[in-house]
Amino acid sequence: MHLLLGTQTALIVSKNISEIRQARWADPALSWGLVPTMGALHAGHISLAERAAAENDKSCATIFVNPTQFAPTDDLDKYPRTLERDLEMLDAAGIDMVFTPTPAVMYPDGFGTRVLVDGVTARLEGEHRPGHFDGVTQVVSKLFNIVQPNRAYFGQKDAQQTVVLKKLVRDLNFNLDLIVCPTVREPDGLAMSSRNRYLSAEERQRATVLYQSLSQAAKMIEDGERDGETVRQMIANTVNTTPHAELIYASVASALDLSELDRISGNILISLAVLVGDTRLIDNFMIDDIKP
Ligand code: PAF
Repeated sequence: MHLLLGTQTALIVSKNISEIRQARWADPALSWGLVPTMGALHAGHISLAERAAAENDKSCATIFVNPTQFAPTDDLDKYPRTLERDLEMLDAAGIDMVFTPTPAVMYPDGFGTRVLVDGVTARLEGEHRPGHFDGVTQVVSKLFNIVQPNRAYFGQKDAQQTVVLKKLVRDLNFNLDLIVCPTVREPDGLAMSSRNRYLSAEERQRATVLYQSLSQAAKMIEDGERDGETVRQMIANTVNTTPHAELIYASVASALDLSELDRISGNILISLAVLVGDTRLIDNFMIDDIKP
């Protein structure tokens, strides 16, 4: 365990599960908030950390680039690792403790348990990144069990992840509230993401097409369009006519079960994944209560 002495009280940093448990249960009367991350923190993560610090007596962030949620062809090795800076940012955000396990701590020799959520994992990201959510539910279940928080904080930017994790919490009776926080955006609308740092200057400019096409889709629906396929087609055309951008999927789905909508009504999730150069970006808008 090491203590980072920053602007606030000492930040506890540990790779060790029993040290984390000891600190978490030092005073059982205190409530704890949890912010799971893979590091390379940006303002989106910090908004979760600040909220966890504000809404709980104590707060814990985790930094772990979880290998089981990456496919062999994914960017695991090149995923950015910026630990010292991350710790300073978490300290400044008011976080009390950071769990920084190694893969061997999380998945020791002989580890062999999987946590599979049905249904909502099958589409969108799940369809294009087979096994991704199995890794997410596996690691998040472990983090919930290790820290046993009262509340856990996730970003709306990973909309499907929040739907999957809500189902996990409900189905496995994790005793916590899962709180979804709004997406934090750059001034031109690009959603904050650790992967944005891979973009060249030109790609960074083109990456605004995600936000632009979502805004156009929301406007079409506000103006009365109710045909799901027409909206999906507009998003596809907008993305695919942008240099350096290639659409992976465009979806107009029920926010509840992520089923694709022919007719738009109720609470909906408009989402897309786009390859900008070699970088895979996702974004979404949630719109509630659309009249048929
Ligand atoms: O959203 C993320 O950064 C990751 O999927 C999470 C929840 C930290 C699990 O590794």
